[in-house]
Amino acid sequence: MELNLRDKRVLVTGGDGGLGSAMAEAFAAEGARVAINYRGEPDIAERMAADFKAVGADALAVEADVTDADGIAAMFGRLDEAWGGIDVLLNNAGIDGKAGKGWEIAVEDWTRVIDVNLKGAFLCAREALRRMVKQRAGVIVSTSSVHELIAWSGYSAYTASKAGLAMLTKTLAQEAAPHGVRVLAIAPGAIRTPINRSVWSEPEGMRDLLTKIPLGRIGEPEDVANMALVLASDLAAYVTGTTIFVDGGMTDYPEFAHGG
Ligand code: BGC
Repeated sequence: MELNLRDKRVLVTGGDGGLGSAMAEAFAAEGARVAINYRGEPDIAERMAADFKAVGADALAVEADVTDADGIAAMFGRLDEAWGGIDVLLNNAGIDGKAGKGWEIAVEDWTRVIDVNLKGAFLCAREALRRMVKQRAGVIVSTSSVHELIAWSGYSAYTASKAGLAMLTKTLAQEAAPHGVRVLAIAPGAIRTPINRSVWSEPEGMRDLLTKIPLGRIGEPEDVANMALVLASDLAAYVTGTTIFVDGGMTDYPEFAHGG
């Protein structure tokens, strides 16, 4: 089946990280033009861009802190110059932050997670929508989490940010739909990336994790990247304003497989 993503102009925020790099690779493999956003060290993003170019896909490494509105505007300006705009925003940059109960966590640590995951997603969506609404085409896919639904002790900022992202997605989708623009989110479950390495790299952690996943395996970054491809393509032309869970059934209440 043809995804028809060739030459699409795609920006992946946090494009040098666990899920972001898998998404960037997947879109580059489909012949899309991929801008890999990073913050701080350019090495990984630059190397990815060089690798994509070597196989004939156009690519850019673009620095910006997603919490900085001016920096985000400048990054989109670079895309305008290079490619004349954007077709697909993968709003993926995110952190889980320092763990701590609500009554223990420092306000700065709590706020940082909201700033990156929620405000950052908004700032990027805002710049993207200004362009997409005008051209009457475009797709935004944000990386949410099963924790937009499932409470997670120690991570009140993370869960609140992802639940917020769900409603940001729905509201922006409602606003943008009459203009031919779709806005969606993907909610990954436990995916094998650096963010949760401390869990899956230990046998004990992995055993506990698997009790939470009906399909019986940890997810791979490609599981999420594949869904991003489909959602960004016209195969999903009738899908907007919703979160698609890519979680091996984690949100299907596996505790209720027996008893109840
Ligand atoms: C978190 C991971 C966690 C997964 C399932 C994700 O949003 O980033 O650390 O393993 O949710 O709980």
